[in-house]
Amino acid sequence: MRTLVFSLFILTVAAVSANEKLVVCNYEAKAHLRQGQGQFGLHDLDEAIRYCNYLIYGYAAIDDKTFKLVPLNEQFDIMKDNYRLVTDLKRRYPKLKVLLSVGGNDDVTGSGDELNVKYRNILESTTHRLAFVNSAHTLIKGYDFDGLDLAWEFPETKPKKIKTGLKKAWNSFKSVFAGEHVVDANAEQHKEQFTALVKELKAAFRPDNLKLSLTVLPNVNSTVYYDPRNLAPHLDFIALHAFDFYTPHRNEHLADFPSPVYELIDRRVDENVDAWVKYWLNNGAPANKLVLGIPTYGRTWHLQGEAKIDEFPITDLEGPGEPGPLTKEAGLLSYPEICTKVTTRTTTPGGLTKISDGTKRRGVYAYRYPDKDDKGGVWIGYEDPETAAIKAQYVKNKGLGGIAIDDLTLDDFRGVCNNNKFAILKAAVAAM
Ligand SMILES: *[C@@H]1O[C@H](CO)[C@@H](O)[C@H](O)[C@H]1NC(C)=O
Repeated sequence: MRTLVFSLFILTVAAVSANEKLVVCNYEAKAHLRQGQGQFGLHDLDEAIRYCNYLIYGYAAIDDKTFKLVPLNEQFDIMKDNYRLVTDLKRRYPKLKVLLSVGGNDDVTGSGDELNVKYRNILESTTHRLAFVNSAHTLIKGYDFDGLDLAWEFPETKPKKIKTGLKKAWNSFKSVFAGEHVVDANAEQHKEQFTALVKELKAAFRPDNLKLSLTVLPNVNSTVYYDPRNLAPHLDFIALHAFDFYTPHRNEHLADFPSPVYELIDRRVDENVDAWVKYWLNNGAPANKLVLGIPTYGRTWHLQGEAKIDEFPITDLEGPGEPGPLTKEAGLLSYPEICTKVTTRTTTPGGLTKISDGTKRRGVYAYRYPDKDDKGGVWIGYEDPETAAIKAQYVKNKGLGGIAIDDLTLDDFRGVCNNNKFAILKAAVAAM
């Protein structure tokens, strides 16, 4: 009996190492600015890091005059030494790779059609690309990062408009003539030029064995901007941030599941995890290089008394929900800000009613109707340890490379939900 148990143990260990999955952990450095229990310091990383193969430092920026890679927050990143302190973690965790990420929607310039136009301008000239490549190499080496992650700020797709009845017919009639508003007239060139940039970066990085990865940001249309077959050979992994399909900023009056695994009835066919994965697989990316992004937060809308919460998409909402006590950002709540309010008894004042996902396709949501003064109503589509595990299971079933947690600072890093620090990260890792 003892030998049997022992050999089973050996077999289990062997099986685990044979299908080793990547765990990419995003870290938003700006989380040190949050107050009180929301403040995320370097020591808070400790509990998470032993689960992570990669730590992604968010974010660096592009200088729009020189096209060089530069720190986004010189004061904190350089003067206060945060770059150095983070890469020093490798002394304690020798297997950890730390990448610096550029973009990630944090590096914002301009507005309207000019929003982040530098991310397209830089691609258009080999001189600009060279300035970027050389400066990236210098910055990465200078602070002992293991490589660069490209969370490239290509323009987002326009949010879907809800059309009903006559308006629907009129709109489809109109779009035949007017066409949809074109976000980027040179998208085709930008796609080719981005592939060129990736090749140039990899060539510069190769002698030092530096890593290069791509993060596909939410609502950036891969079909338009990314060429999987020609990108994949030069990238160590591709993180698909297939979430935020609906946000209160994109869809003020309409709410829906922010990141369903599979297509839901009557939604746009490419607004789900599975559609993103299929695009990359069907166009030549190897499955083991794809890592699936899992958010650690919820998107919130201000719910009115009359709104129906069981018919999707939910209409008649009033924009972003109130900022949370820790994150203080309208329309967003971190997982611990949600879990501490969820209750099974709807009578608890201020409590949220949670509706689980029996289908395992769409995600969870929670809500609270407003009081008689029309205050405090909220609808939240979010991720919890259960749905994170469902996504990790999907990764396993499809033979994908792993997961990317976005991000550690919004997970339950103090263990306030269930006395279990980083519950989302851990649940996802366990399910692979
Ligand atoms: C992405 O681009 C393709 C090709 O232009 C288009 O068919 C598809 O509808 C776009 N997806 C979204 C979400 O805009």
